Amino acid sequence: MSVPTRSFRALRLIQTGSGVRMELEEIHWDDLDPGPIGIRVHYSSVNYKDALAATGAGKILRRPTVIGGLDLAGEVITSEDPDFPCGCRVVAVGGGLGEARDGGFSEYARLPADLLVRLDPGLTTYAAMQIGTAGFTALLAQRRLEAFGLRPGDGPVVVSGATGGVGSFAVNLMREAGYAVSALTQKRGCEEYLRAIGAVDIIGPEAWEAGEPALLPARWGAGIDNVGGHALSWMIRSARRGAAIAAVGMASSADLRLTVFPFILRGVSLIGINSTEVETGARRALWHDLAHASRPRALDRIAPQHISLAALPTSFGDWIQNRIVGRVVVAIGEEPSGGSGVKSG
Ligand SMILES: NC(=O)c1ccc[n+]([C@@H]2O[C@H](COP(=O)([O-])OP(=O)(O)OC[C@H]3O[C@@H](n4cnc5c(N)ncnc54)[C@H](OP(=O)(O)O)[C@@H]3O)[C@@H](O)[C@H]2O)c1
Repeated sequence: MSVPTRSFRALRLIQTGSGVRMELEEIHWDDLDPGPIGIRVHYSSVNYKDALAATGAGKILRRPTVIGGLDLAGEVITSEDPDFPCGCRVVAVGGGLGEARDGGFSEYARLPADLLVRLDPGLTTYAAMQIGTAGFTALLAQRRLEAFGLRPGDGPVVVSGATGGVGSFAVNLMREAGYAVSALTQKRGCEEYLRAIGAVDIIGPEAWEAGEPALLPARWGAGIDNVGGHALSWMIRSARRGAAIAAVGMASSADLRLTVFPFILRGVSLIGINSTEVETGARRALWHDLAHASRPRALDRIAPQHISLAALPTSFGDWIQNRIVGRVVVAIGEEPSGGSGVKSG
């Protein structure tokens, strides 16, 4: 295998005076950020942060122009690193891709080894992008809560933003690990989906929007929050004695209005989750578990569809407007064997 001599497609994000402009460009190998490992990208995926970056709804870009895409999975085509020989399949999630360095919305990428994990034979590149940052982060949150001491007998677990990417995987992974999961959602009409991926109980926004007492009746053994704001405040105020809440996202708000009572009177803990700063060994172990012991059973239900690179620019608004249920894969070059579904290889 060698570097492509032809031009290829990439979705470039360009900061302008008033926001961010997207351009689906034809570029060449030397236009990519340099890196010792060259990858033919099979698939990427869309995360909330990708939509914020591409639309300019959030200040995500850390340089004037970058190829978007936080996630990618594909095949190594050039390598200066014996740990990543040509032909091996790799996944990269986060680590500044699509923000500070060229990311996965491109037919090719050139990356340093520390951003890459070799894919286990049990996961296709398609399945890796069904999971992506969202599934990786959900499993990280579960592991952090269990390292804190959480066990299934400790009470129900509440997950907010439950129909989103991280939320859906959090519901499914926690359920598979034996927890009773309550799903917090703003969406109407998603009960069947949420029950299918593992929720035993569904809670609408009226619950956390009602009133602001410093403490609410204690319900939750733990929580995984993806939206911030009122929902996170409500989860903390209704946590049981000694419970932990994992703060993952702020899809709704970066604010958090609280008193210290839940922490002092009930000993509640707030655990911050940062999926971009997981050290290499732990990252590999999480991906290994996602291929085996913690493989999300509802993978095809959570991420049933893919879209093309060309369709991406007009799609991002659906994430910002909260119109997406589950996750969407982006077909870039596609795996030679096809790649649909979760078959191994
Ligand atoms: N800390 C980390 O390492 C890490 C890693 C990945 C993602 N994140 C963050 O976690 C959050 C979720 O990411 P994701 O990729 O799972 O996003 P996503 O697929 O777009 O899901 C976000 C979910 O949040 C809920 N939501 C509530 N208010 C919303 C609003 N105003 N706009 C849009 N959605 C709203 C929706 O669920 P319901 O309709 O069911 O309520 C939505 O499905 C984001 O803030 C993201 O930046 C953090």
